[in-house]
Amino acid sequence: MRIFLTGGAGYIGSHTLLEVLSAAHEVCVYDDYSNSAPAALARVEQLTNRKFKTVTGDIRDQVSLATALTEFKPDVVVHFAGKKAVGESVEKPLMYYENNVSGTLSLLRAMEAAGCNRIVFSSSATVYGEPQYLPLDENHPLSATNPYGQTKLMVEHILRDWCTARDQASAVLLRYFNPVGAHDSGMIGEDPNDIPNNLMPFVSQVAVGRRETLQVFGSDYDTPDGTGVRDYIHVVDLAKAHAAAIVYAAAHKGCEAINVGTGQGSSVLDVVRAFEKASGRSIPYTMAPRRPGDVAALYAQPDKARTLLGWDAERDLADMCVSAWKWQSQNPDGYGD
Ligand code: NAD
Ligand code: WQD
Repeated sequence: MRIFLTGGAGYIGSHTLLEVLSAAHEVCVYDDYSNSAPAALARVEQLTNRKFKTVTGDIRDQVSLATALTEFKPDVVVHFAGKKAVGESVEKPLMYYENNVSGTLSLLRAMEAAGCNRIVFSSSATVYGEPQYLPLDENHPLSATNPYGQTKLMVEHILRDWCTARDQASAVLLRYFNPVGAHDSGMIGEDPNDIPNNLMPFVSQVAVGRRETLQVFGSDYDTPDGTGVRDYIHVVDLAKAHAAAIVYAAAHKGCEAINVGTGQGSSVLDVVRAFEKASGRSIPYTMAPRRPGDVAALYAQPDKARTLLGWDAERDLADMCVSAWKWQSQNPDGYGD
């Protein structure tokens, strides 16, 4: 098939690109490199020994995007492009609504012009808001606690309405839990621009000596060790879920939301211990107050992905830490400048 990846140079996009090329699809990556580097694409080319098309552009640039889509004529679009920092979204909500919501509207218009009716969308477990029960299944009520979460919810609604209005349309909303880790080669991985907001990249930077101490946000939660519990999902498993979702979208019509998680919760201290084991380094940490907006525990009911996509997570927390460490230690400065 012909697959168009918006944001394909980013963390999850580059890992998915590798899987999609390995599955012998033809690919076009559309990215403005606002949060990524072309070096990631060069490394995927090297790893797969396959060529693919790239277009540099912003998804909000309707003309550029429509031209790229009309020329490439994709069977399926996988839509990663967007902003993803929760704190930044509170400070700059308009930037988030413009990139994530207006950007998606621009994409759907361009897809219609190019006659493409199938989309796989990067949604997030953040659409469940404060958990009312665990594990979180896809029928859990939806809500948003910040502008970033709002954009994911709004796009989910837009895609559902788009499918209702178009007989031939198909949308798969993949609700990722906490993606971490890197490709086994250690050649591609997560490369945050500033101080990492997320736990795993922060822990890796402490292990490699780029930062001194991890702050553990909250030690008095109602969890087995008092620290926050999350469902960490290996980025390679997540990439494989996209490959399965592409096949599903090509064979089905309508809109489906599907969790992508392991179903297993790990605490902050579980992650610290697993990373120490994987790296052979100690991770100094201090207990700090809870981070505003955080919940005690979040983990997925992953059965729907198994039933609809035939996909299951295969990698555990140790695999996630080993691969994250390989990427971090081989590339202490990420992709560099
Ligand atoms: P990322 O920032 O590494 O990748 C996003 C890519 O999109 C980057 O290459 C960036 O340059 C590009 N991009 C951003 N805005 C663009 C625009 N207007 N036009 C063209 N390209 C643009 O992020 P990621 O972690 O790979 O996340 C990918 C998607 O998955 C995002 O939509 C994110 O919200 C979603 N998601 C991520 C996580 C996570 O924890 N990483 C969890 C749930 C959902
Ligand atoms: C995990 C745990 C923290 C950093 C976020 C977004 C979510 C989704 C994934 C996009 C929590 C603790 C963290 C640190 C810590 N992204 N922590 N010290 O908050 O579950 O989810 O990323 O859709 O929308 O909100 O992930 O990695 O930030 O935190 O103790 O320096 O680690 O309190 O318990 P989170 P995270």
